[in-house]
Formats: sequence, C-alpha cells, structure tokens
Amino acid sequence: NAMARLRDMFDRAERILPFTGAGISTECGIPDFRSPGGFWTKNRPIPFDEFLTDRGARDESWRRRFAMQDSFGSAKPGRGHRALALLNLIGKAPEVITQNIDNLHQDSGILPNDVIELHGNTSYATCLDCGKRYELAWMRERFEANGGHAPDCDCGGFIKTATISFGQSMPAEPMRRAEAATLACDLFLVVGSSLVVWPAAGFPAIAKRNGAKLVIINRDATDIDDEADVVVRHDIGTVLAPFAAQ
Ligand code: OAD
Repeated sequence: NAMARLRDMFDRAERILPFTGAGISTECGIPDFRSPGGFWTKNRPIPFDEFLTDRGARDESWRRRFAMQDSFGSAKPGRGHRALALLNLIGKAPEVITQNIDNLHQDSGILPNDVIELHGNTSYATCLDCGKRYELAWMRERFEANGGHAPDCDCGGFIKTATISFGQSMPAEPMRRAEAATLACDLFLVVGSSLVVWPAAGFPAIAKRNGAKLVIINRDATDIDDEADVVVRHDIGTVLAPFAAQ
C-alpha cells in the first residue's frame, strides 16, 4: 500500500527535500488559496504594481493582514509540520522549501536558516526602499490610530509585509538556494500544493529530471501527478502523522 511504499522511500532516501504549500497548514486552521473557501475564492489578489501605485490598495492589503492576524494569528504547527521537523532533526531533510508565509515550519522547530521561503514571510514587514524592518504590532497601532491608513517609512518608502505579491520579482537568494537544494536531493516531496504558481511549481520537475524520486502528497490532483513515483491523495496530517512520532 501507499503508506508502506512511502515509509520505504523515506528510509532509502539520503536527502529528502520537502516542498510545501498551503495544504500543510489547513489543519492548523489557515485556509489554502484555491480549495472551496480558499483565500483567492474570497479575495481578489492585489498585484504588486497596484500596491506601489494605489494608496487604497496598500491600505486594503494591510487591512487584510490584520484580519488574518485576528483569524489565525495564533495557529500552531500541525502533524505535517511536525513530521518534516523530525526528518530535519535526524538529518534526512536538511532543508525545506516552502511557498507558505505563515512561519509554521520555523515554529515547528526547524532552524530559520533551513527554511527556504520562496514567497517570503508575513510575520514582519519591511520598507520596499531602504529595507528597514517593521514589526506588525507597531504597524497595527499606527494603522488604527491613522483611521485605517498604513504608515510609510521614515525614508518615504512604502512598508509591506515581507511577502511576494503577484508581479513582484522572486527573492534572489531563496531562489538560488531552492535550485541548489533541488539538484542535491534524491527524494523531492511535494506536500499540499496545487503546483499552479510559477516559478515555484517548476521545482518538482527539475528534481525529477535530475534523477530524484518524486512523491506528491496532496488531496487534489496536480498537473505533474503522471511524473511522480508515488502520489498520495489523502489528508496530509493523517498521512504524515506516523512519521511525526517515533
Ligand atoms: P493552493 O490553495 O493552490 O493549493 C493547496 C493544495 O493543498 C490544494 O491542491 C488542496 O487539495 C491541498 N490541500 C489542502 N488541505 C489539504 C489537506 N489537509 N490534506 C491534503 N491536501 C490538502 O495553495 P498553494 O499551492 O500553496 O502565492 O498556492 C501557491 C501560491 O499561490 C501561494 O504561495 C500563494 C498563492 O497565490 C502568492 O500569493 C505569491
């Protein structure tokens, strides 16, 4: 069966590279983007150029951020996160690539340096011009005192959560590290991603072409299921729970 196959592949692998998407965090109470009820089924994305040119769009993006804080700001890592943290701890998965911005891999005990964040992190903000870091609590205080308007940086630049919006260029260092990790692994493990957002969605095929085994754990089918060695279309927490406790 698929579970025994998975266990066997994890045992044989020397270097597993988990690649996670929003599906690993749904059991923590954070909705994904494209499933029924997902974030993009309720909110229109705010493209980066709109954030830069439209003050209303900046305010709206901050309003959404604080609403997220109220809904799932206290989310804790789930069984999937804990299983990957254990693989990391025993040295089987030296790095994790994630498209998530929720910081839950770090919260599960993986060192920040081992988490390659392709789409940034929403737990803090930075000035787009000078790079100065801002904390969310400070931003919220100013936002509310200002009648729902986001403050700008002392330097005049716009302050944005440290995430990547559609139309914003990918972060160079994480991209470089993700490429190197993809070429170094012998088992590429997709966990909870629809694999429709590029360039992130390209990494599994790069690993496969380079000779790695490809495993996909995701409830819905993806475009590259045919290329995978094992596809497990089940609940992530249930599938990975046996690997979280040893
Ligand atoms: P999606 O919402 O596109 O896909 C999440 C996938 O997880 C779906 O295919 C679900 O079937 C699956 N899923 C959800 N809960 C699950 C569970 N408990 N067990 C098993 N499978 C489950 O999210 P991502 O692929 O992460 O980027 O989205 C990629 C990017 O699109 C995000 O990083 C974000 C978004 O726009 C940016 O905004 C730049």
